[in-house]
Amino acid sequence: MHSYQELSTGQLEGRGPAAAADWWREAVVYQVYLRSFADGNGDGVGDLPGLRARLPYLASLGIDALWINPWYPSPMVDGGYDVSDFRDIEPVLGTLEEAEAFIADAHAAGLRIVLDIVPNHTSTEHPWFRAARAGDRAARELFHFRPGRGPDGSEPPNDWQSAFGGPAWTRETREDGTPGEWYLHLYAPEQADLNWTNPAVHEEFLDILRFWFDRGVDGFRVDVAHGLVKANGLPDGGPVESATSPHTRPHPAWDQPGVHDIYREWRALADSYDPPRIFVAEAWVPTNERLARYVQPGGLHSAFQFDLLRSPWRYDTLRDAVEAGLHTSAAVSAPSTWVLSNHDVPRHVTRYARSQPATNVEPDWERLRWPSEPADLDLGRRRARAAVMLVAALPGGMYVYQGEELGLEEIEDIPSALRQDPTWWQMGHTDPGRDGCRVPLPWSGDRKPFGFSPAGAPAPWLPQPDGWASLTVAAQEDDPGSMLHLYRRVLGFRRRALVGAGDLRWLPGPDGVLAFDRGPFQCWVNTTEKPVDLPPGRHLVLCSGPEADETAGVLPAQAAGYIVTSPEDMGGTDLPDSETPAGGAMCEAGA
Ligand code: BGC
Repeated sequence: MHSYQELSTGQLEGRGPAAAADWWREAVVYQVYLRSFADGNGDGVGDLPGLRARLPYLASLGIDALWINPWYPSPMVDGGYDVSDFRDIEPVLGTLEEAEAFIADAHAAGLRIVLDIVPNHTSTEHPWFRAARAGDRAARELFHFRPGRGPDGSEPPNDWQSAFGGPAWTRETREDGTPGEWYLHLYAPEQADLNWTNPAVHEEFLDILRFWFDRGVDGFRVDVAHGLVKANGLPDGGPVESATSPHTRPHPAWDQPGVHDIYREWRALADSYDPPRIFVAEAWVPTNERLARYVQPGGLHSAFQFDLLRSPWRYDTLRDAVEAGLHTSAAVSAPSTWVLSNHDVPRHVTRYARSQPATNVEPDWERLRWPSEPADLDLGRRRARAAVMLVAALPGGMYVYQGEELGLEEIEDIPSALRQDPTWWQMGHTDPGRDGCRVPLPWSGDRKPFGFSPAGAPAPWLPQPDGWASLTVAAQEDDPGSMLHLYRRVLGFRRRALVGAGDLRWLPGPDGVLAFDRGPFQCWVNTTEKPVDLPPGRHLVLCSGPEADETAGVLPAQAAGYIVTSPEDMGGTDLPDSETPAGGAMCEAGA
């Protein structure tokens, strides 16, 4: 296998995206949080030049596509999800020309590009909202402006709460300084919700999609796909227990049936391209049945299955999550889309590093980010190694959040003064926010910024911890037992064994062990503290745990393994010699 340093752009040319129009059904998509990926111009913030320079690294992972968080001009109140112009690039991140060159290079490297569309809201600095604030009547109809309640209109028009905490309404101040109407924002006050009952909003977003599709973009992740349409009359929704609870039970602000009309329009547009473009929905909805509506025929292509990301590291909840995910998508002939972490939730190494909740209740992210118990990161990483083997063995597509291939943990001690996430303020400092999973990546070297920025640059926009020297890409390249090598092997195996297609059949396993058959191989995941015996006559061909010995017929504690009847059974899918250590089993060292 080539290390990423060995791959030059010349070698990548000609790999080109595979022709299959349904590539997205089984794709491995790597999420790039651009501001934290790699800083090319030396200002402490990740950018397009930094990303472009690391394309060979990305191609070396064995992924199919990149999902890039919003890169549009933005005041950056919410990390770019407050967009002020949907047809350009935020100057801190690059230029439109750089974006076009990047898309071309990524395609040449065999990687498709999925952007992030933010149709629920615009920045209050967007020209539409500025015009609305200045009193333009047509522009006001693009948003939700309402008079306040109470004799003097000083109470919000309804009881909706922002997902970041506090009321979902802010009262405007007129030019003469007097208070005016209220506008709706399901997130920060700087993110005004668009009024999707207005045909002009539909036209605008179809045009924005065309703008990027015409530049070769292969698809979009749809931000807050469940939020665009609100119940008629904006009725009260009743009390919410926490910021996340509107997503876990019916609420007039979320998951209204009208959203699907929008996605049918979008699907028709995407299908009019050759090759067709695709969508993946971010929809936090109360049930899997509700989620299935987003991916019904004629709607969006796929939707993140958040059940695994919400599941503790427990046999029963993990199995339920897999079962529910498969069931949901099968019912509408959509692929399952698995995900363990993203830029909104604590990294899974850390989630798995503490005692695990007894049930699969909706995780309390605030509590998870404000831990009361020390983290056992070795245990967390051990479980994370097993987790990627579980996910990569499932039918459907999977997303990898940048840095999980390095085993990065959540950074929980960012000083308050350096926090950037609006959640921190809006929650009245009761939730430290999402900065801890967005810390700039460590690439090389023994000292901060660990190769994230060129020499002489100011400190990265979020502080890195001192202890990441052993987790840099360079350090892990040199360690065959590293998380990075494990990811490459697992994704390589997945590609060769055509894991994304086909069915899964559960097998009876020992207590606490998920075991399932995937045709050419079986996946076993031991969530217990004790090693378990493998079935006689089976060979362990890939294993996440350190102590595995294929001849012992044992799967170590807190580890996953892929097993076959005989290595020859893998037919064309067996692993290259260079990946198979003496003894045959590809078992891994520690974190
Ligand atoms: C994104 C968040 C963002 C929010 C508002 C989410 O779903 O993933 O990062 O804060 O939408 O746009």
